[in-house]
Formats: sequence, structure tokens, C-alpha cells
Amino acid sequence: MKRELTIAIDGYSSCGKSTFAKLIAKKLGYLYIDSGSMYRSATLYFLRKGYIGADNINVDAIIEDINQVAISFEMDKISGEQVTLLNGENVEAKIRGIEVSGFVSQISAIAEVRSHMVAILRSIGGNRGIVMDGRDIGTVVFPDADIKIFMTASVDVRAKRRFDELSGKGVSVDLEEIKNNIIARDLTDENRDISPLRRADDAVILDNSRMTIKQQMVWFEELLEKYLDEN
Ligand code: DC
Repeated sequence: MKRELTIAIDGYSSCGKSTFAKLIAKKLGYLYIDSGSMYRSATLYFLRKGYIGADNINVDAIIEDINQVAISFEMDKISGEQVTLLNGENVEAKIRGIEVSGFVSQISAIAEVRSHMVAILRSIGGNRGIVMDGRDIGTVVFPDADIKIFMTASVDVRAKRRFDELSGKGVSVDLEEIKNNIIARDLTDENRDISPLRRADDAVILDNSRMTIKQQMVWFEELLEKYLDEN
């Protein structure tokens, strides 16, 4: 390959973006960044601070403290998986639970939270090969990304996948609750004022409702080959 590429993968909640993005990064020897884990970590931080309640979110306090939220990534020595660090603490398991999932879309709609995260994401990106997944990577974070993919799948398929993933980790979950959370998050993500979830005009759509991960990788290899032929 001539040079290292920036690959942006955006799309709806729970459609397998991170599984797909991780495999692409592994195949190409690129860095993988899960931008959603950063918004999740910020949400955990503000939950702990007491700024997020069921009926009230203290937006002023969140804006005041957003610079206290430092996010980094490291490789877990035991699992070999990348984990998210919030101010140095491994929060990987804590940010996947239903409480953080229930508030993360509202927190990520705050302009100051977004600009803080976009700055971190761009600084990680730089000039190296990277695969980043999220909601606004191809539209806002890296509008000049070399390859942009927009992922989607039916709500039922996504809810079942999330249910299996969390149950597999021993988390006790309810399928209907997960489905409602996915629907609510998509709605908030698509309708927020700043950087709403939308397909970049030059993104290729991947609907993986009926595709295995192996089929998705074959699809990607064809896309990559076409890109390299043309560029
Ligand atoms: O990808 P995820 O489900 O872990 O993302 C969690 C939330 O974070 C999602 O509901 C919206 C927000 N998010 C965002 O606003 N922008 C991103 N680039 C990534 C995630």
C-alpha cells in the first residue's frame, strides 16, 4: 500500500461498528479508535460527579469540568484487547452498562463536550493509518478521510446482538430495554443540533442486517481494492 489511510466508520448504535473496525485495523496494522467510548467515559465521569440525575442534567457544571476529562487507550495485557482509560483508570467494563448507555446521547449533544472530544480525536489521528468509529467521524472529525463507511442494520437485529454481547459478559439485561435504548439513542443522535448522526455524502452504506462478519470483511476488501485502484 502506498500510504497509510484514514478510515472513518459511522452509523447507528449497536450495528457492529467496533467489531468491524477492529478487524479492519488488525488486517491493515492500523490504530483503532472507538470514539463512542470517549463520550461514554465522559458520561461516567459526570455521573460520578453527581451532575446527571434522572430528571435533571447540570449542563453548566459539565461545561465547567469538561477539561478534567482525560481519555486514553491502552492494550490490556491479559485479554490483548484495547481498553479505555478515564484519567488513568481502566473503565472499559463500567462504560458499557445500561446506566451510561441511558445518558450518553444527552451528554454527547453538549457542544463543549463535542469540541473537547473532537480535539482529542484529531490529535490521536495525525498522519498514521487509523480506523475510527463513531457518529461524526466522516462528517466532522475527519471530513477528508480516505474511506468512509456508514453502517446500519435493522433495530431488531441490533438489539439482539447487543443483548447477546452483554449477556455473554454476564451482564443481566432485558431485550426490550435494550431495544428501547437503541431507538432513543438513534433519535437523539440524529436530531441533535451539533454534528448530528448522518451519512457523509461520500460515505458508502453497509447494511449488515443479514451479513456475517466474514462477509463484511469480504465486502471491505473489495471496497479497499477499488479505492486503491482508483487512487
Ligand atoms: O458507539 P457507541 O454506542 O459506544 O456511542 C455511544 C454514544 O456516544 C452514542 O449514542 C452517541 C455518542 N457518540 C457521538 O455522539 N459521536 C461519536 N463520534 C461517537 C459516539
